[in-house]
Amino acid sequence: RAALQAQSMALSDAMRIACDFYRQNLRSAPQAITYLQGRGLTGEIAAKFGLGYVADNWDSLRAVFPDYEAMALVECGLVIDRTDEEGNNRKRYDRFRDRIMFPIRNAKGQVIGFGGRVLGQGEPKYLNSPETPLFQKGNELYGLFEARQAIREAGYVLVTEGYMDVVALAQLGFPQAVATLGTACTATHVHKLLRQTDHVIFSFDGDNAGRRAARRALDACLPHATDNKIIKFLFLPKEHDPDSYVREFGHEAFEQQVRDAMPLSQFLLNEVSGESDLSTHEGRARVQFDAKPLIQAMPPSSLRLQIVRGLAQLTQSAPTEIESLFELSKPVAR
Ligand code: CTP
Ligand code: MN
Ligand code: MN
Ligand code: MN
Ligand code: MN
Repeated sequence: RAALQAQSMALSDAMRIACDFYRQNLRSAPQAITYLQGRGLTGEIAAKFGLGYVADNWDSLRAVFPDYEAMALVECGLVIDRTDEEGNNRKRYDRFRDRIMFPIRNAKGQVIGFGGRVLGQGEPKYLNSPETPLFQKGNELYGLFEARQAIREAGYVLVTEGYMDVVALAQLGFPQAVATLGTACTATHVHKLLRQTDHVIFSFDGDNAGRRAARRALDACLPHATDNKIIKFLFLPKEHDPDSYVREFGHEAFEQQVRDAMPLSQFLLNEVSGESDLSTHEGRARVQFDAKPLIQAMPPSSLRLQIVRGLAQLTQSAPTEIESLFELSKPVAR
């Protein structure tokens, strides 16, 4: 009977039990507390995000799951089954060991996944829950549940890459931050963001990976870039991410970065004119070639017209020439 009951344990219950356990463990893990303090975090902010710790054991979760063999633990990604080549001698062990645990919550606040960070150096730096019936990485925004009210109050959302960016920004007075968890910003992400607010500021790492992430976010946003939306890109110095920047330079400096964030129109024109020599016919043609799919991805709007005008100026053309070249007056083919 107990086994049957365990089999039918809801995945979300298992995740909640694990989350509470990890949180409890943090209290008695001075090295983990020291690590978080070293990164500028208070107990208050750790509690807000439900941060936890899991000890360096192969089966810590036995403490809270008397039926450690329950299938639900595999299905929600908390444990891993390893078998030999014949599929025998199955051995089960905890996925997360000796890590700071970041619970990922859905819109209702239920824990659907975890990110686990090593304390200090070590590979992989972050270990995440696998895709499960509860958790699809490309659809989730870390911190959205915690940030929802703050986004409404601030009137905008900050979109970052990582767990620590969200938590550090909240610690330093920017609770309106979420993260894409290192994955590309997807159409689903953009939908979720624009359901919360009409003002989205992407704030990725200053390195090349962050720059590429901004470009992908631009691509994902174009179909939604209408006149009533404000979409901006905040570019930090190469060696910084939002976490390191806000902790080194403080709230005011980051506030200035927010004010200076680049509007989508400017970023788009920079992207397409970056590599080309605007002093040659070929260079200007190339800019138009690169701009064409981006502008075609936008719905008709005043913003699109403004970008067309900007492009016309850059490439010494008339806006009407670009409109006909890009077939912007024709209805979009389906
Ligand atoms: N990430 C991941 N697995 C990794 C590395 C990164 O899932 N091995 C994801 C995490 O969500 C991470 C984000 O990508 O937060 C951004 O990666 P990175 O910039 O490398 O990490 P930081 O968030 O800056 O981590 P930290 O400040 O803790 O070093
Ligand atoms: Mn607004
Ligand atoms: Mn990075
Ligand atoms: Mn980073
Ligand atoms: Mn970082």
